[in-house]
Amino acid sequence: MVAARILLLKRAVFATCLLPLVVLALDAFRRGLGANPIAAIEHSTGRWALVFLLVTLSVTPLRKLTGYYWLLRLRRMFGLYAFFYVCLHVLAYVILDQFFDWTAMFNDIAMRPFMTVGFASFVMLIPLALTATNAMVQRLGSKRWQALHRLIYVIAIGSVLHYLWLVKLNKTQPDIYGGILAILLGFRIIVAMGRLVRRAMVGRALKLPASGAN
Ligand code: HEM
Repeated sequence: MVAARILLLKRAVFATCLLPLVVLALDAFRRGLGANPIAAIEHSTGRWALVFLLVTLSVTPLRKLTGYYWLLRLRRMFGLYAFFYVCLHVLAYVILDQFFDWTAMFNDIAMRPFMTVGFASFVMLIPLALTATNAMVQRLGSKRWQALHRLIYVIAIGSVLHYLWLVKLNKTQPDIYGGILAILLGFRIIVAMGRLVRRAMVGRALKLPASGAN
Protein backbone atom coordinates (compact mmCIF):
# COMPACT_ATOMS: atom_id res chain seq x y z
CA MET A 1 0.00 0.00 0.00
CA VAL A 2 1.33 3.44 -0.85
CA ALA A 3 2.27 5.80 2.01
CA ALA A 4 -0.57 8.27 1.31
CA ARG A 5 -3.18 5.50 1.48
CA ILE A 6 -1.73 4.16 4.72
CA LEU A 7 -1.85 7.64 6.24
CA LEU A 8 -5.50 7.98 5.20
CA LEU A 9 -6.30 4.53 6.60
CA LYS A 10 -4.53 5.37 9.87
CA ARG A 11 -6.54 8.57 10.24
CA ALA A 12 -9.81 6.76 9.51
CA VAL A 13 -8.98 4.00 12.01
CA PHE A 14 -7.91 6.59 14.60
CA ALA A 15 -11.27 8.39 14.29
CA THR A 16 -13.23 5.11 14.34
CA CYS A 17 -11.50 3.98 17.54
CA LEU A 18 -12.66 7.18 19.24
CA LEU A 19 -16.32 6.42 18.46
CA PRO A 20 -17.00 4.36 21.64
CA LEU A 21 -15.90 7.33 23.72
CA VAL A 22 -18.03 9.73 21.67
CA VAL A 23 -21.09 7.47 22.05
CA LEU A 24 -20.46 7.16 25.80
CA ALA A 25 -20.07 10.94 26.17
CA LEU A 26 -23.27 11.58 24.18
CA ASP A 27 -25.18 9.04 26.27
CA ALA A 28 -23.87 10.66 29.47
CA PHE A 29 -24.84 14.10 28.16
CA ARG A 30 -28.35 12.90 27.28
CA ARG A 31 -28.58 11.10 30.65
CA GLY A 32 -28.95 7.87 28.75
CA LEU A 33 -26.61 5.71 30.83
CA GLY A 34 -29.37 4.00 32.79
CA ALA A 35 -30.00 3.73 36.51
CA ASN A 36 -26.31 3.40 37.40
CA PRO A 37 -24.29 5.71 35.14
CA ILE A 38 -21.01 5.08 36.98
CA ALA A 39 -21.29 1.32 36.47
CA ALA A 40 -22.25 1.96 32.82
CA ILE A 41 -19.08 4.04 32.30
CA GLU A 42 -16.92 1.40 34.03
CA HIS A 43 -18.45 -1.39 31.98
CA SER A 44 -18.24 0.40 28.63
CA THR A 45 -14.61 1.54 29.05
CA GLY A 46 -13.58 -1.88 30.44
CA ARG A 47 -15.19 -3.75 27.58
CA TRP A 48 -13.65 -1.49 24.94
CA ALA A 49 -10.23 -1.86 26.56
CA LEU A 50 -10.61 -5.62 26.26
CA VAL A 51 -11.86 -5.37 22.67
CA PHE A 52 -8.82 -3.29 21.68
CA LEU A 53 -6.47 -5.74 23.41
CA LEU A 54 -7.99 -8.55 21.35
CA VAL A 55 -7.90 -6.48 18.15
CA THR A 56 -4.20 -5.78 18.80
CA LEU A 57 -3.57 -9.50 19.25
CA SER A 58 -5.47 -10.35 16.07
CA VAL A 59 -3.22 -8.23 13.82
CA THR A 60 -0.40 -10.80 13.54
CA PRO A 61 -2.66 -13.80 12.77
CA LEU A 62 -4.61 -11.72 10.21
CA ARG A 63 -1.38 -10.56 8.60
CA LYS A 64 -0.12 -14.14 8.41
CA LEU A 65 -3.40 -15.46 6.99
CA THR A 66 -3.97 -12.66 4.46
CA GLY A 67 -0.42 -11.52 3.66
CA TYR A 68 -1.51 -7.89 4.21
CA TYR A 69 1.62 -6.35 5.75
CA TRP A 70 -0.02 -2.94 6.11
CA LEU A 71 -2.07 -4.36 8.99
CA LEU A 72 1.11 -4.19 11.09
CA ARG A 73 1.09 -0.41 10.69
CA LEU A 74 -2.13 -0.26 12.71
CA ARG A 75 -1.08 -2.54 15.58
CA ARG A 76 0.56 0.14 17.71
CA MET A 77 -2.52 2.36 17.44
CA PHE A 78 -4.82 -0.46 18.57
CA GLY A 79 -2.52 -1.22 21.53
CA LEU A 80 -2.44 2.43 22.56
CA TYR A 81 -6.21 2.64 22.29
CA ALA A 82 -6.46 -0.38 24.62
CA PHE A 83 -4.31 1.54 27.08
CA PHE A 84 -6.37 4.71 26.59
CA TYR A 85 -9.65 2.92 27.37
CA VAL A 86 -8.11 1.13 30.37
CA CYS A 87 -6.96 4.53 31.71
CA LEU A 88 -10.51 5.87 31.36
CA HIS A 89 -11.78 2.70 33.05
CA VAL A 90 -9.38 3.13 35.99
CA LEU A 91 -10.13 6.86 36.22
CA ALA A 92 -13.87 6.09 36.35
CA TYR A 93 -13.17 3.66 39.18
CA VAL A 94 -10.85 6.00 41.14
CA ILE A 95 -12.83 9.23 40.69
CA LEU A 96 -16.48 8.32 40.13
CA ASP A 97 -16.80 4.97 41.88
CA GLN A 98 -14.43 5.32 44.86
CA PHE A 99 -14.01 9.11 44.94
CA PHE A 100 -10.28 8.89 45.82
CA ASP A 101 -10.86 6.64 48.83
CA TRP A 102 -7.38 5.06 48.65
CA THR A 103 -7.94 2.74 51.66
CA ALA A 104 -11.13 1.35 50.16
CA MET A 105 -9.40 0.91 46.79
CA PHE A 106 -6.41 -0.81 48.40
CA ASN A 107 -8.74 -3.23 50.22
CA ASP A 108 -10.76 -3.77 47.05
CA ILE A 109 -7.65 -4.64 45.04
CA ALA A 110 -6.13 -6.76 47.81
CA MET A 111 -9.26 -8.71 48.78
CA ARG A 112 -11.13 -9.30 45.51
CA PRO A 113 -9.32 -11.57 43.05
CA PHE A 114 -10.98 -9.98 39.99
CA MET A 115 -9.68 -6.58 41.10
CA THR A 116 -6.20 -7.93 41.87
CA VAL A 117 -5.86 -9.45 38.41
CA GLY A 118 -7.34 -6.34 36.72
CA PHE A 119 -4.92 -4.08 38.59
CA ALA A 120 -1.95 -6.31 37.73
CA SER A 121 -2.96 -6.24 34.05
CA PHE A 122 -3.20 -2.46 34.12
CA VAL A 123 0.24 -2.11 35.77
CA MET A 124 1.80 -4.45 33.19
CA LEU A 125 0.25 -2.45 30.36
CA ILE A 126 2.02 0.77 31.46
CA PRO A 127 5.58 -0.20 30.34
CA LEU A 128 4.17 -1.43 27.02
CA ALA A 129 2.48 1.92 26.38
CA LEU A 130 5.59 3.83 27.45
CA THR A 131 7.82 1.86 25.07
CA ALA A 132 5.49 1.95 22.08
CA THR A 133 7.67 4.35 20.07
CA ASN A 134 10.30 3.57 17.41
CA ALA A 135 12.85 5.40 19.56
CA MET A 136 12.18 2.99 22.45
CA VAL A 137 12.51 -0.04 20.15
CA GLN A 138 15.98 1.26 19.21
CA ARG A 139 16.91 2.12 22.78
CA LEU A 140 15.91 -1.28 24.19
CA GLY A 141 17.04 -3.30 21.20
CA SER A 142 14.61 -5.34 19.15
CA LYS A 143 15.07 -8.59 21.16
CA ARG A 144 14.51 -6.99 24.59
CA TRP A 145 11.63 -4.89 23.25
CA GLN A 146 9.93 -7.99 21.85
CA ALA A 147 10.46 -9.90 25.11
CA LEU A 148 8.88 -7.02 27.07
CA HIS A 149 5.96 -6.78 24.68
CA ARG A 150 5.19 -10.48 25.10
CA LEU A 151 3.61 -9.31 28.36
CA ILE A 152 0.57 -8.55 26.20
CA TYR A 153 -0.33 -12.26 26.38
CA VAL A 154 -0.31 -12.23 30.21
CA ILE A 155 -2.24 -8.95 30.22
CA ALA A 156 -4.91 -10.31 27.88
CA ILE A 157 -5.33 -13.49 29.95
CA GLY A 158 -5.48 -11.37 33.13
CA SER A 159 -8.11 -9.10 31.56
CA VAL A 160 -10.33 -12.02 30.56
CA LEU A 161 -10.01 -13.49 34.08
CA HIS A 162 -10.86 -10.05 35.52
CA TYR A 163 -14.09 -10.09 33.52
CA LEU A 164 -14.83 -13.79 34.09
CA TRP A 165 -14.38 -13.52 37.86
CA LEU A 166 -16.47 -10.38 38.30
CA VAL A 167 -19.51 -11.81 36.53
CA LYS A 168 -21.59 -13.89 38.91
CA LEU A 169 -24.45 -15.30 36.85
CA ASN A 170 -24.41 -15.23 33.05
CA LYS A 171 -20.82 -15.80 31.92
CA THR A 172 -21.64 -15.86 28.18
CA GLN A 173 -19.92 -12.53 27.39
CA PRO A 174 -16.63 -13.19 29.21
CA ASP A 175 -16.67 -16.73 27.78
CA ILE A 176 -16.89 -15.27 24.26
CA TYR A 177 -13.92 -12.95 24.90
CA GLY A 178 -12.06 -15.90 26.47
CA GLY A 179 -12.83 -18.06 23.42
CA ILE A 180 -11.53 -15.40 21.01
CA LEU A 181 -8.37 -15.02 23.11
CA ALA A 182 -7.89 -18.81 23.14
CA ILE A 183 -8.09 -18.86 19.31
CA LEU A 184 -5.59 -15.97 19.00
CA LEU A 185 -3.13 -17.56 21.43
CA GLY A 186 -3.70 -21.03 19.95
CA PHE A 187 -2.78 -19.69 16.52
CA ARG A 188 0.55 -18.43 17.89
CA ILE A 189 1.26 -21.74 19.63
CA ILE A 190 0.60 -23.66 16.40
CA VAL A 191 2.86 -21.28 14.41
CA ALA A 192 5.63 -21.55 17.04
CA MET A 193 5.37 -25.36 17.08
CA GLY A 194 5.50 -25.45 13.27
CA ARG A 195 8.65 -23.32 13.38
CA LEU A 196 10.25 -25.66 15.94
CA VAL A 197 9.43 -28.74 13.86
CA ARG A 198 10.81 -27.09 10.69
CA ARG A 199 14.01 -26.08 12.53
CA ALA A 200 14.44 -29.62 13.88
CA MET A 201 13.94 -31.07 10.39
CA VAL A 202 16.44 -28.63 8.83
CA GLY A 203 18.88 -29.42 11.66
CA ARG A 204 18.51 -33.16 11.00
CA ALA A 205 18.86 -32.67 7.24
CA LEU A 206 22.08 -30.68 7.74
CA LYS A 207 23.48 -33.30 10.14
CA LEU A 208 22.66 -36.30 7.95
CA PRO A 209 25.36 -35.91 5.27
CA ALA A 210 27.96 -35.20 7.97
CA SER A 211 27.10 -38.33 9.98
CA GLY A 212 26.92 -40.31 6.74
CA ALA A 213 30.52 -39.28 5.98
CA ASN A 214 31.74 -40.65 9.36
C1 HEM B 1 -6.09 -4.32 31.39
C2 HEM B 1 -6.84 -3.96 32.42
C3 HEM B 1 -8.34 -4.07 32.52
C4 HEM B 1 -9.28 -4.48 31.60
C5 HEM B 1 -9.05 -4.95 30.16
C6 HEM B 1 -10.56 -4.39 32.24
C7 HEM B 1 -11.76 -4.77 31.67
C8 HEM B 1 -12.96 -4.84 32.34
C9 HEM B 1 -14.16 -5.43 31.81
C10 HEM B 1 -14.29 -6.05 30.43
C11 HEM B 1 -15.13 -5.29 32.75
C12 HEM B 1 -16.57 -5.80 32.65
C13 HEM B 1 -17.43 -4.89 31.88
C14 HEM B 1 -18.85 -5.39 31.84
O1 HEM B 1 -19.35 -5.93 32.84
O2 HEM B 1 -19.50 -5.20 30.82
C15 HEM B 1 -14.54 -4.61 33.87
C16 HEM B 1 -15.22 -4.27 35.02
C17 HEM B 1 -14.68 -3.59 36.06
N1 HEM B 1 -13.35 -3.23 36.18
FE1 HEM B 1 -11.88 -3.58 34.86
N2 HEM B 1 -10.40 -3.89 33.50
C18 HEM B 1 -9.06 -3.69 33.71
C19 HEM B 1 -8.48 -3.19 34.84
C20 HEM B 1 -9.16 -2.68 35.90
C21 HEM B 1 -8.57 -1.97 36.99
C22 HEM B 1 -7.08 -1.63 37.11
C23 HEM B 1 -9.58 -1.62 37.83
C24 HEM B 1 -9.54 -0.85 39.09
C25 HEM B 1 -8.47 -0.55 39.78
C26 HEM B 1 -10.80 -2.13 37.29
C27 HEM B 1 -12.05 -2.01 37.85
C28 HEM B 1 -13.21 -2.54 37.37
C29 HEM B 1 -14.50 -2.44 38.02
C30 HEM B 1 -14.78 -1.75 39.34
C31 HEM B 1 -15.42 -3.09 37.20
C32 HEM B 1 -16.93 -3.25 37.41
C33 HEM B 1 -17.16 -4.34 38.40
C34 HEM B 1 -18.61 -4.59 38.69
O3 HEM B 1 -19.46 -4.50 37.79
O4 HEM B 1 -18.92 -4.92 39.83
N3 HEM B 1 -10.52 -2.78 36.10
N4 HEM B 1 -13.24 -4.36 33.60
